[in-house]
Amino acid sequence: MTKIALFGATGTIGTRVLHEALRRGHEVTAVVRDPAKFPAPADGATTVVRGDVLDPASVAGAVAGHEVVVSAFGPGPGDPAALVTAARSLIGGVRSLGPGAPAPRVVVVGGAGSLRTPGGPLVWDEAGVPAPVLALMHAHGDALDFLRTVPVEEVRWTCLSPAAQIAPGERTGTYRLGLDGLVVDEEGRSRISTEDFAVALVDEIERDAHAGRRFTVAH
Ligand SMILES: NC(=O)c1ccc[n+]([C@@H]2O[C@H](COP(=O)([O-])OP(=O)(O)OC[C@H]3O[C@@H](n4cnc5c(N)ncnc54)[C@H](OP(=O)(O)O)[C@@H]3O)[C@@H](O)[C@H]2O)c1
Repeated sequence: MTKIALFGATGTIGTRVLHEALRRGHEVTAVVRDPAKFPAPADGATTVVRGDVLDPASVAGAVAGHEVVVSAFGPGPGDPAALVTAARSLIGGVRSLGPGAPAPRVVVVGGAGSLRTPGGPLVWDEAGVPAPVLALMHAHGDALDFLRTVPVEEVRWTCLSPAAQIAPGERTGTYRLGLDGLVVDEEGRSRISTEDFAVALVDEIERDAHAGRRFTVAH
């Protein structure tokens, strides 16, 4: 059993991560902006606390005593740069816990834009990406660039990028792994259900297999 602090527990991806972690017997603290909008489930394994992922002091207060911090934070429309602020705040908050306490690992949900396609270009360099999506992709890329400056000896971080397409669907429990390259199927499509993305993320929590780097998953 791992004690997990989860930012974004009310979101599309965070909800699946919460359910996947609970079904495997982990304890989850859902760190939410407004606890009134997210009553604690009566499962005994979920705690709800108030917290703001953009504020390092708030992060530190919420994650102290946990083994793993997960961020499935998504910025509101028009504020993609908040992804970088969140990455800095998560790392800063964990760092501020000091040497007296074991630092929690940090697992961040990233974007697919900075993955390399089998044809050569990065996903965000392909034609036809709408401008707002492009801005989000580059903000995720900037957040990943920041994470890559953080020595794992200080904070054991990981970033998990989804496939090019991620949407709620079936939990098959299976997926294929990649690192910085887009994972595609035999027909060239890159897809993952949100449920299987959560399976992969909780697998990473349990296995600690990609410390200090980004990885990706797809069907
Ligand atoms: N879904 C996709 O297609 C997709 C694809 C690639 C990458 N991603 C990335 O995956 C991440 C999660 O995506 P999503 O679709 O699950 O997002 P989402 O449904 O919009 O959820 C965003 C979550 O972030 C929380 N949040 C917002 N501001 C916060 C703050 N200051 N402090 C703490 N929590 C805050 C929201 O909580 P409230 O309830 O308080 O609003 C919500 O739980 C995003 O970074 C997104 O860019 C998503």
